[in-house]
Amino acid sequence: MFPTQPSIFAEMSKLALEHDALNLGQGFPSFEGPAAIKEAAARLLVEDGHQQYVRMAGHLPLCEAIASHQKNFYGLELNAGEHICVTAGATEGLAATILGLAKPGDRICAFEPFYECYPALVSRAGAHFQGLRLRAPRYELDREAFLNACEAGCDGLILNTPHNPTGKVFDEDELNFIAECAAKYDFWICADEVYEHLTFEGRQHRPIASLANANDRTVSLGSFGKTFSMTGWKIGWASGPSSLMTSVRAAHQFLTFCQPKILQEGAAHALNSLQSPDYLQSFVTGYNQRRKTLCDGLRELGFDVPQVNGAYFALATNPWVKKIGARRAASILAEKAKVVAIPCNSFYIDPLGCPQTLRFAFCKDEKTIQGALKNLKKHQALFV
Ligand SMILES: Cc1ncc(COP(=O)(O)O)c(C=O)c1O
Repeated sequence: MFPTQPSIFAEMSKLALEHDALNLGQGFPSFEGPAAIKEAAARLLVEDGHQQYVRMAGHLPLCEAIASHQKNFYGLELNAGEHICVTAGATEGLAATILGLAKPGDRICAFEPFYECYPALVSRAGAHFQGLRLRAPRYELDREAFLNACEAGCDGLILNTPHNPTGKVFDEDELNFIAECAAKYDFWICADEVYEHLTFEGRQHRPIASLANANDRTVSLGSFGKTFSMTGWKIGWASGPSSLMTSVRAAHQFLTFCQPKILQEGAAHALNSLQSPDYLQSFVTGYNQRRKTLCDGLRELGFDVPQVNGAYFALATNPWVKKIGARRAASILAEKAKVVAIPCNSFYIDPLGCPQTLRFAFCKDEKTIQGALKNLKKHQALFV
């Protein structure tokens, strides 16, 4: 089941190019990250002595910055030398965790809709992927279905919160329930927390590793690219107890081995700068404004848009999308309205009966979002 076809993102980005459409499909920001971070990396780029391989598990100043970040934000105690692995974005963090921990024949669960690479990586590990649907339209945790899956045998859970694509932020009650199940049924958790600093409506991200009964069975993943709007740098990290991190590092050494020292230095500078609240305050304020522009605009056009509590995507549907299906609707919108969104069918193992919704990314500048809304408005007649 390892995919041999281009992903839905590649397919939709191709359509965006073909039709010269505004791309609210792929989740990369259309604006720059902080100049001071680029300067920190640039200083090393022009100096001698920084162009070779670095420590396999990560440049120590970055590992130390990650350990301080986890301590300052979440009270997690990590040893920079032992409990952290710097990866090529969270994508490699996912690969190293899944390949390091899942054994052939294991059953690995994740909530649907899911981030697209999960099933592919699980299948690469020779394990079985099981999707557990969150209950639309509010994407609630179905506790009974989750318990059934645990009882049937679950060896690992990939838990993404704040959640792409639904905008769900798992609350304390849900996390406690999941952590209790993990302890009772003895499975590990890969906590994909790349949107940890993007929460809205008074929600707060709580890492599942901060719960006592999940701490010693969780690998947490973070992404520099998401928090600092520099996705192209592909710097991420995995952290957790030595009992799990030994295997994650072992997988990482044969995936990418290490990331450029120059970029790791910039990422360390970035994480250390979070000691002052200024950056994150303006980061969240900017995203909150873009979220409001997109969600209000889509609702004004008659789309049903569930509240987005975290991450930078909004799901939208309307009777037309439901009638013709999200995949077809996405192609028509790209071609006629010149707006690209991602049909969410691809985020289900068996899309039969899945909600017909489109995912719009709001990690774009106001002008792009406004332009997309204007294009949709011009073609509103399509939606009948
Ligand atoms: C839920 C989720 N996990 C992981 C990633 C990958 O992050 P990175 O760009 O750091 O590899 C993404 C990127 O979109 C994501 O949305």
